[in-house]
Amino acid sequence: MRVYNFAAGPACLPEAVLKQAQEDFVCYKQSGMSVMEMSHRSADYEAIINKAQSDLRALMHMPEKYKVLFLQGGASMQFAMVPLNLMSEYRRAYYVNTGAWSKKAIAEAKKTGEAVVVASSEDKTFSYIPELEKGMFGGGADYVHITHNNTIYGTRYTKLPETDIPLVADMSSSILSEETDVSRFGIIYAGAQKNIGPAGLTVVIIREDLIGRAGESVPTMLNYKTHAENGSMFNTPPTFAIYIAGLVFEYLIKNGGIAAMQKTNEKKAAVLYDYLDGSALFSGTAAKKDRSLMNVPFVTGDAALDAAFIAAAKAKGLVNIKGHRSVGGMRASIYNAMPIEGIHMLIDVMKEFERKA
Ligand SMILES: Cc1ncc(COP(=O)(O)O)c(C=O)c1O
Repeated sequence: MRVYNFAAGPACLPEAVLKQAQEDFVCYKQSGMSVMEMSHRSADYEAIINKAQSDLRALMHMPEKYKVLFLQGGASMQFAMVPLNLMSEYRRAYYVNTGAWSKKAIAEAKKTGEAVVVASSEDKTFSYIPELEKGMFGGGADYVHITHNNTIYGTRYTKLPETDIPLVADMSSSILSEETDVSRFGIIYAGAQKNIGPAGLTVVIIREDLIGRAGESVPTMLNYKTHAENGSMFNTPPTFAIYIAGLVFEYLIKNGGIAAMQKTNEKKAAVLYDYLDGSALFSGTAAKKDRSLMNVPFVTGDAALDAAFIAAAKAKGLVNIKGHRSVGGMRASIYNAMPIEGIHMLIDVMKEFERKA
């Protein structure tokens, strides 16, 4: 029996995608082999990767001047690749610190140049997104970096910073969840294991003029140019993960694209937040104005009750609801693939728990 998996990542995938993959698993179409056994240079595989790329472009209404790269190393490797490639002119960048992932990105950038933290929400355990004004991002920096959705704290940017400097966004936990104006960004990157597909794939969307800025000392594999010039096939790409991501993109297109996803996601989140706002026992921890559509952290205020609730939810087939180890409490990650039925069931279990508490 499948459960409702509220994990933050790797996370649930659309069941239709898993079934399609199962159908193709041993023998993909007329190829006589599994996708896992295919040469990445074969015609069958080229069709898979090309379609995955063009479907992602279509889904995100990507302008021509952006390249899609399918890389490895996770979003964490982008924490290093971004400064290694972009800190070319000023060796300086602006960072907004909205949580543990921002901090890791900042720490990594400091290895290459100067990472100036222009705003932070650490004073309130990252429960909000700081107000940003254009004046904060003066000249003399190579890029501005934000963590678009903060997976651990359940906050998200509802308004992008105004800046003339290239904007770089870690969208690991928000990509494909709501309409995004790609033209506002220099780079968007995301680990796949939340809204895109299985772990092992990292998607980078990069404006063409930002490719080719890395210095000579940057290792070949860490240079965006290497991957852009070779269609993400400089070496063996994560072939199976790209294939599954392609199935997810196809599934999203068939189901109304990002606009439809956003509508459903807004509804799913509203149902859960409404319940939390009315509950005498449970409360959400993120500032209302900055609430994430994808990750909903909440607490009872009592660690023993939290643990009891997590166990009660698990007994009903609602799993991975424990908050991140750094903040405790609970967190429901409700990515695109989480059906609204899962949220209704979670609320039913919360109501029952509240009645008995
Ligand atoms: C916002 C964000 N950035 C970065 C990461 C790290 O991603 P990876 O494990 O792909 O390096 C995560 C992982 O959960 C995340 O949520």
